[in-house]
Amino acid sequence: MNQEYTFTFDKTPSCVRIQEEFPSIDRICADFELIGGAVVGQVLLVCDTNTEYIAREILGTQNRPWCVLPSGETAKNWASVEAILSAGKEAGLGRDGLFIGVGGGVVSDLTAFAASVYMRGAGLCLVSTTLLGMVDAAVGGKTGFDLFGMKNVAGTFYPALLIYMPLDSLLSLPKAEWKSGMGELIKTAVLDDTGALLEHLQSLEPEPLNFQDRTSRERILASIARSVQIKGRIVEADPKETGVERARLNLGHTFAHALESAVGLGQVSHGEAVAWGMVRACELGYALGITPRERGRVITSLIKDWAYETRALHPLLEEQGRTEAFMGALGGDKKKKAGKLRFIVPRAQGVQVVSAEAIETDLVERIICGTLDTSR
Ligand SMILES: NC(=O)c1ccc[n+]([C@@H]2O[C@H](COP(=O)([O-])OP(=O)(O)OC[C@H]3O[C@@H](n4cnc5c(N)ncnc54)[C@H](O)[C@@H]3O)[C@@H](O)[C@H]2O)c1
Repeated sequence: MNQEYTFTFDKTPSCVRIQEEFPSIDRICADFELIGGAVVGQVLLVCDTNTEYIAREILGTQNRPWCVLPSGETAKNWASVEAILSAGKEAGLGRDGLFIGVGGGVVSDLTAFAASVYMRGAGLCLVSTTLLGMVDAAVGGKTGFDLFGMKNVAGTFYPALLIYMPLDSLLSLPKAEWKSGMGELIKTAVLDDTGALLEHLQSLEPEPLNFQDRTSRERILASIARSVQIKGRIVEADPKETGVERARLNLGHTFAHALESAVGLGQVSHGEAVAWGMVRACELGYALGITPRERGRVITSLIKDWAYETRALHPLLEEQGRTEAFMGALGGDKKKKAGKLRFIVPRAQGVQVVSAEAIETDLVERIICGTLDTSR
């Protein structure tokens, strides 16, 4: 059942191993060297309070330095980066040191950022432990942390040479985190020009929580594997998002990041924000004549099946009276190209990148206020 994929991002190889069980620390070091990493000197495991048990499993009886961060998006800050760098220094890591991030997207983005700047670049391995981490965050080399109340304002491109995705870690994943990961999985499915992943997701029971039986595990593994391949190939074509290829991965994200910033980081999960943002992207696509109605209906109905918020005016924006803040956050979005905002909207197959120039000024506001007539 194990699967392995190797991508090349800007001449740097990145090997993804989807497997049942947690890798041991000896296995990680041996694999890292086997696939071309430097002979491993000292290692540092980085985890959060919820993935500490996985870091312990990885270590077994071995005593190696580690750094336990607080959990969640609110910990994705400079203080955590400093804690990792300081733990690396304390543990005596040199440039041949190996940072091993054990956790979801927050731990992997933070550990990867720290590894990328530690002595101008140390070894990096990720053990991804959330669905969102596996289908998205761990692959593709984007690192970073939140700053000035905005998501991922500081970051680098630094692909991990080695990434494990142990399915066993999903056994302890809370329901809300499954849901968050499904948002990114659906996003990748919409990007897929072949439509195969979308079809596969439509055939899944919307509650993959009964993850113990073999069939469910195989279905989830197939979804993760397909998603990894789609994202990996897109990033290979445009590793640093200098073209439009990688920008496609931002489907739903221009809306999602503005929502997350407007209501306060951590108030809505990233995947839920992305799911909501994809429905808004469909509405934008209708208004621009790019997204066929039927395509939008298929996407929206899958998002509804997974019980995501699909109402135009997000209840958190409404409750907190934050639509103005949303528009402000949109203006500061870092997915701008040449000072212009970009939106990604679904086409009949795959997606299209649209510059804000092509969009009437108040169209986005009407979409998120729910005053755009989307019935026609
Ligand atoms: N670098 C990229 O390309 C990229 C892409 C997408 C998202 N991201 C980033 O990823 C982050 C979101 O990732 P996430 O949803 O994995 O968040 P996360 O890392 O905060 O994990 C979500 C929660 O699940 C807990 N958790 C993790 N693994 C667990 C397990 N196996 N069992 C029980 N609990 C577990 C965590 O402690 C946390 O409380 C965001 O910061 C986002 O910006 C990065």
